[in-house]
Amino acid sequence: MNRDGRRISVRPDAFESFAFENGDRLTIKPRALAARLTKTPDGSSHILVGDARAIRVPPRYDLAEFKGFKLPTHLVILTGAGPETLDPIGTAHIRHYEKFMGLRPDMTLLEIGCGIGRDAMQLIDYLSPEGRYIGIDVTRDSVEWCRRNIAARYRNFEFHHFDAQHELYNPLGSKTSLDFALPAEAGSVDRVFLGSVFTHLFEAEVVHYMKEIRRVLRPDGLAYATFFRYSPEIIAAAVRTNRTPFGLRFEHPYGDGCYINDAAYPTGAVAYTDEAMARMIDAASLKLTAPYLRGWWSGYYEEADDGQDVAILTPR
Ligand SMILES: C[S@@+](CC[C@H](N)C(=O)[O-])C[C@H]1O[C@@H](n2cnc3c(N)ncnc32)[C@H](O)[C@@H]1O
Repeated sequence: MNRDGRRISVRPDAFESFAFENGDRLTIKPRALAARLTKTPDGSSHILVGDARAIRVPPRYDLAEFKGFKLPTHLVILTGAGPETLDPIGTAHIRHYEKFMGLRPDMTLLEIGCGIGRDAMQLIDYLSPEGRYIGIDVTRDSVEWCRRNIAARYRNFEFHHFDAQHELYNPLGSKTSLDFALPAEAGSVDRVFLGSVFTHLFEAEVVHYMKEIRRVLRPDGLAYATFFRYSPEIIAAAVRTNRTPFGLRFEHPYGDGCYINDAAYPTGAVAYTDEAMARMIDAASLKLTAPYLRGWWSGYYEEADDGQDVAILTPR
């Protein structure tokens, strides 16, 4: 590693406890090994340092300050947006949960795909001591950061790593989501949320998570799951308006009612038809509490409720 012209060695197994500073430049040695490592489209290299324990090494380590935390920028970017949007997007998420599901500070909340804790950080001041937050993700470095920085200070917050393989988020993962149960008792959770997670998963994993959500939710519990809704009209509007930086057109059919945006990178963005969504919701014994919320991404709706389309689910 190069810090202001000084060379510093960091062993892979010491990577997650090393105190990186803004602007540290990372080079993996020996070069022959570096060339063989798995790389993801975000520019990071991935090294397995133990059982179900891979590290994500960016070419440069930068830190963004937010709410008294210092967040590694390469992990923030995996949310799909940069550090400058942590606050507006995080507050909008909580506002949407309040508006469309209702939230109370004493609730038990479970988030699948918590990433770097964008929503969790907004909930620190919101939850009362009776409230509880459980975050799950496949990006191990983000979960590890949340554990060391959020859970270590706030006892009603906990974070769990699922070592499910994912092209971008956990390329060295050894399992799939189907190998994991949500870490909560049956009927114990008030609210579940998944922000842009079903947009990266195929049917088997979506159905598995829906079944698990059904299991952990209280009978009157609710889940807020964002997704890309596919219909010829919605896609025509998305192509016309091209609102996102991701060029979302979903031109490639990929199974029954499933469409992907990039044939070379299938889980980069996944969309589902209403029929496919209904089939998955039904298979999990869930039901919609309202029509899908209207996503801004496609430009199809005159007025939007959230960035992506949203299914609000409850046990059937
Ligand atoms: C676009 S990011 C959104 C992160 C977070 N929801 C937010 O709004 O900041 C998608 C997240 O889903 C996570 N993810 C992908 N596949 C997953 C899976 N099978 N189980 C749980 N999380 C997954 C990724 O690691 C990533 O953190």
